[in-house]
Amino acid sequence: MEIKNIKEGLVTVKAPEFDKITSKAPVFYNPVMELNRDLSVLAIKAFQHELGREINICDAFGGSGIRGIRYAKEIDNVSKVIITDINPLAVQYAIENIEMNNLDNVEVYKEDSNILLRKCRGKFDVVDIDPFGTPSPYIESAAISLKTCGMICVTATDTSALCGTFKEPCIRKYSAMPLKTEYCHEIGIRILAGFIARTFSKYKKCIQVKFSHSSNHYMRIYAVIKKGAKITDESLKNIGYILHCDNCLYRTVIQGFAPKIPSHCPLCGKNIRIAGPLWTGSILNSEFIKDMMNNIENSNINQKNNAFKLLNTASLEADATATYYDLHQMCKNLKISAPRLHYVLEALEKEGYFASRTHFKPTGIKTDAPLDVLKKIIVYIISS
Ligand SMILES: C[S@@+](CC[C@H](N)C(=O)[O-])C[C@H]1O[C@@H](n2cnc3c(N)ncnc32)[C@H](O)[C@@H]1O
Ligand SMILES: [Zn+2]
Repeated sequence: MEIKNIKEGLVTVKAPEFDKITSKAPVFYNPVMELNRDLSVLAIKAFQHELGREINICDAFGGSGIRGIRYAKEIDNVSKVIITDINPLAVQYAIENIEMNNLDNVEVYKEDSNILLRKCRGKFDVVDIDPFGTPSPYIESAAISLKTCGMICVTATDTSALCGTFKEPCIRKYSAMPLKTEYCHEIGIRILAGFIARTFSKYKKCIQVKFSHSSNHYMRIYAVIKKGAKITDESLKNIGYILHCDNCLYRTVIQGFAPKIPSHCPLCGKNIRIAGPLWTGSILNSEFIKDMMNNIENSNINQKNNAFKLLNTASLEADATATYYDLHQMCKNLKISAPRLHYVLEALEKEGYFASRTHFKPTGIKTDAPLDVLKKIIVYIISS
């Protein structure tokens, strides 16, 4: 077996070479996830800064150990990192990689993450869930193992389920209906956040989403936890549904577990499609994202430019309302050619509306302008 050295951030680790990146690899390492790990370092740094004390971290799906090792090496005030993996070869590599990086604050276990997390009730400040495919079977264990005021970091690579290519797996894994629309990636993140919030609520814990993004083949959420029955009841008011009309592109958000949902579009009268239950609250926090951006300069990350670009767009769209329009889809609907995106954003702002790009899609428009106003602005730009 060929062994390769991998350099990311401040660490070098080794892992066996393999041809195809699949879950069948002897020890899993995916170079595409470097940005995910870079952003995780920045997010946990921002979280530690906000908390202002030493933290411990559980990397519950360790693989080669690169993630947990980076957390131990690159984040200040980390008292301990606990890594676990069920693959004995991964554990062996993680142990050697810890030694290679001269770290004495990282421990490795060969244990199913659900068992380790449940043994460590209320122990962790940060729990990182980075499994193959869906994180849904591990969220409840994370809820049990996190301290009040801790942070959960979750990756989901089952985007075909969350985005509604196949709706049955989404219903099965997240007890929610997805919806294939131009903003299905945002719906996916909101379904995942809603599932986390509903799972945590059993333990009188609620979430505040600090940062989330959809990149490449995965989605990622960072959420801080608060505890208390009252605050959790209040927070669950963020659970709701998104209603969408394919005919005129109308969409709206309805809050509540069992709200009254109209079956027809109030604008054109055609059938309405529904996504949810999902998280209708904030999925980006501009202060937190700015803190992450401030940490980029003095971080030794390879993906500096990509991280900055993503965080900058995310900070600009942080205060936007839920869902976005796709310029091309909108122009197809209007049967006109598409103007330049920045003309549309400028015109919306000039009319006093919020307008921004979105990291979800290069042709996406986040705005609070009513649908008819947006359509009029686009038609005006193209005809003038
Ligand atoms: C996607 S990889 C993790 C990659 C790693 N976090 C990184 O950033 O390079 C998922 C890992 O979880 C391990 N795994 C799968 N199911 C597990 C379980 N129930 N408990 C602990 N580890 C598990 C696999 O052996 C694999 O190494
Ligand atoms: Zn309609």
